[in-house]
Amino acid sequence: MNELISLPSAILFILSIRGLNSPRSARFGNLLGIIGMILAIAAVFVFIPFPRLPVIISAMAAGGIIGIISGQKVRMTALPQMIAAFNGLGGLAAVFLAAGETIAGGTGYFTSSIGLVIGALAFSGSMVAFAKLQGILPGRALLFPFQHVLNLLLATVVLILFAGFVFYREEWMFWYLTAASLLLGLLLVLPVGGADMPVVISVLNACSGWAAAGIGFMLGQTLLVITGAIVGAGGMILALVMTKAMNSSLWQILLGGAAKNAKSAAPGRETGNARSGSPEDAAFIMENAQSVIIVPGYGMAAARAQHALKEMSVLLRQKYRVRVRFAIHPVAGRMPGHMNVLLAEADIPYEEIFEMDEINRDFAETDVAYVIGANDITNPLAETDPSSPIYGMPVLNVSAAKTVFFVKRSLASGYSGIDNPLFYRENTVMLYGDAKEVTEAVVRELEK
Ligand code: TAP
Repeated sequence: MNELISLPSAILFILSIRGLNSPRSARFGNLLGIIGMILAIAAVFVFIPFPRLPVIISAMAAGGIIGIISGQKVRMTALPQMIAAFNGLGGLAAVFLAAGETIAGGTGYFTSSIGLVIGALAFSGSMVAFAKLQGILPGRALLFPFQHVLNLLLATVVLILFAGFVFYREEWMFWYLTAASLLLGLLLVLPVGGADMPVVISVLNACSGWAAAGIGFMLGQTLLVITGAIVGAGGMILALVMTKAMNSSLWQILLGGAAKNAKSAAPGRETGNARSGSPEDAAFIMENAQSVIIVPGYGMAAARAQHALKEMSVLLRQKYRVRVRFAIHPVAGRMPGHMNVLLAEADIPYEEIFEMDEINRDFAETDVAYVIGANDITNPLAETDPSSPIYGMPVLNVSAAKTVFFVKRSLASGYSGIDNPLFYRENTVMLYGDAKEVTEAVVRELEK
């Protein structure tokens, strides 16, 4: 019976992920996922003895209410830390399950220990990630002497305890293994800088999936094995795609957080011979243009400028008949889909939003590129300077446009800590200021 319901659930989960492929089918995909989850829960309920139902239903209601409230209340910009926190709870659930199995004298020592170690790592690591992104801990890399040696030692201790527990089955070993794994998760994530966090969260997410798969083997729950494997593989693929698009590597981020952080902490060149303009200049040039491409980046998210951008695009299109499009770089901002989510929040139609590969050639036939709070994703050094930390990352070819406006507060560098030669080009005009304030000033000019 259980297996019978598991199969359609698993198929629905896979179809759901497929639906999330495109914004158009995402709602339907989500719906399929919800139906799959309801079926999966129903399958479990069939096997729960009646006296236990009240406790389980109360726990589900409490968790469900917290989930609904946070889903509605949490701001888009706070999504990464919410994902980190919920992800950590998945890891903690795996720890509890393994503990329950051990106390009850279960037999699946090997698989439950795998679930335990990975779940504990995912829990403590995710809590550190949450604290960093929420500003409870400093976002920069927190380094300490002999950090790598200590981590290696601790990882060895975890392996020894793991083997010890699987062979000798002593309960005290289980608790030491839990403590050592929790500490390892903590120490592994502390040295990672805030901006690398999305990659780490993705890896931790994969870990909680694998932990669930391990626990699924222990409990003989096929559906848990399947969903755990989907989460594990999905999280890992996402992490690899992100590191590739950032021209970094997983090891560099997980082990070398320190080096990267030191680089990004270096201030960019604050002065130079860059030409600056006013919102009035920008409005004048854009209202007389035929085509404008808007390139949003991390600063747009930081300033929450998406609503002002929407107003600007509507005015340009409706009042001045300008063709306006948005160009999205795969790693613009600080998390996957960061820009897409914010532009969707401002109700900017999908037809106006283009991925880098679809639009990059069009800059050459464009009058204005309005680059707002973006920096690295436009930096031509990524293509020309092999010593640059972003060398090899494809970038948006904004300087091919007739005029490029850069909306940012200074000439400071972005995430990768390097100067952007585009600021000093002939066809570049800097619009200094907060992304939202500058864009609102442009809107006021366009309204005149
Ligand atoms: P960045 O290169 O980080 O540049 C953002 C720029 O926004 C900064 O130079 C900053 O300049 C400006 N800014 C900050 N706050 C602002 C505000 N309130 N108003 C106006 N401007 C503001 O961002 P990007 O171009 O989006 O590139 C993303 C970078 O993050 C890439 O290097 C990428 O590899 C990395 N990264 C991405 C991800 C994902 S998955 N998206 C994950 C981790 C890392 P001022 O200080 O002068 O204002």
